[in-house]
Amino acid sequence: MATKILTEHLDKPGIETFEVYRKHGGYAAVEKALKKMSPDEIVEEVKKSGVRGRGGAGFPMGMKWSFLAKPEGVPRYLVCNADESEPGTFKDHYLMKSIPHLLIEGMIVSSFALGANTSFIYVRGELMYVIRILEKAIEEAKNAGFLGKNILGTGYDLEIVVQPGGGAYICGEETALLESLEGKRGNPRNKPPFPAVKGLYQSPTVVNNVESIANTPWIVNNGGDEYAKIGIGRSTGTKLISASGHINKPGVYEIDLGLPVDEFLNSDQYLGGIRKGHYLKAVVAGGSSVPILPADLFLKTANGEDRLMSYESLSDGGFASGTMLGSGGFIAMDETTCIVRNTWNFSRFYHHESCGQCSPCREGTGWMEKVLHRIEHGHGNMRDIDLLVDVAKKIEGNTICPLGDAAAWPVASAIRHFRDEFEWHVKNPSAATKAGAVYMKE
Ligand code: NAI
Ligand code: SF4
Repeated sequence: MATKILTEHLDKPGIETFEVYRKHGGYAAVEKALKKMSPDEIVEEVKKSGVRGRGGAGFPMGMKWSFLAKPEGVPRYLVCNADESEPGTFKDHYLMKSIPHLLIEGMIVSSFALGANTSFIYVRGELMYVIRILEKAIEEAKNAGFLGKNILGTGYDLEIVVQPGGGAYICGEETALLESLEGKRGNPRNKPPFPAVKGLYQSPTVVNNVESIANTPWIVNNGGDEYAKIGIGRSTGTKLISASGHINKPGVYEIDLGLPVDEFLNSDQYLGGIRKGHYLKAVVAGGSSVPILPADLFLKTANGEDRLMSYESLSDGGFASGTMLGSGGFIAMDETTCIVRNTWNFSRFYHHESCGQCSPCREGTGWMEKVLHRIEHGHGNMRDIDLLVDVAKKIEGNTICPLGDAAAWPVASAIRHFRDEFEWHVKNPSAATKAGAVYMKE
């Protein structure tokens, strides 16, 4: 039985309004947190829950909160990263438009725990209608005494500001987001110092993803230990997955972490399998910034174990390391997908979105895009394939922000797992460039 922490009330008509949200237990966590708990107690519950950042990096949320510096007389900020732009990822968008008060309630509880009196929600600029939904929810919460001065008579003050994003993928990187929020060009900063020490306006700042913050009301209401019972190992709780591609039932799903990937992909409760008459070729499980895996390796690890939807199980030991659960942007591709074209497409995206500050990323993303373009269009040679691996290796770990790694991993993993397909393009340019032509393994 799947646990519903974030999506339990989504089927209730009018749940986007304060009145209906409140009728279904909404804002109970604010009452409990502000009236019965100290900020440190809330931080402790979040630590106990083991919840990890849901934006993609999976960094323990309680640990991030406990890193927040608290110098005397300096304001602290909570910034919600709602600049969701990862290809294949649309779960924060869905949550904010469907149940905006869940995020607002989480913002109040989290801001109180962190000692912030002004907090920000930085929303992807294209989502103006979501910005209006959030602003309406904030107004409703304020009218009901849950925001503004002296909330519920407890003496705690909080204002939440909704800020439209700058319209660039890089503005979702936390330090670029802070620059943009300060009114500057969204260029990532060098870390350290981390935002927890020097963030917005050089003040201590916690930047958390929408889904991460939306978990906090449940943790306050039920306790961190209860949250930690859900999931598997260090992957506690539930995760929202945005599923797209050649599956029967695309959409946003809340799953218990640890769900077998086979069940997620093939059962009617979730994705309902690959579209009729086709079979799975490859999967990107966490948005385009994680390695791509062929179907057999996606379903079972190299050791023959069943893969699970968890941070630990979804990892790839090779050059392209790191968790593949990422932001939960699950893209399934059947045998009609050309991996070379797909890799070129991802590469174009990263080249376009690179802010250009550091040479390996600025030059490397453009170089990879050009080489992939010529392979895809029948002008490549065999040396190009190794050149791509070499360029990807030189980008990885040598850039200011993770966009460089994100550009390198899909290319390196595609060549590692689908090298024969790249070679086929080089050896058979006229066949490979025919409209709709796709390499078929013999
Ligand atoms: P990261 O691993 O560098 O950092 C994770 C978080 O932990 C950050 O908030 C960082 O400030 C904090 N942190 C780490 N070490 C710390 C320390 N020693 N002291 C204090 N704080 C510390 O990863 P990052 O850059 O936050 O995220 C990268 C991920 O974002 C990628 O893996 C990708 O999956 C995901 N992503 C998601 C997108 C989306 O639309 N949801 C878009 C693009 C990328
Ligand atoms: Fe900019 Fe790319 Fe460097 Fe990130 S890695 S700072 S996006 S040039």
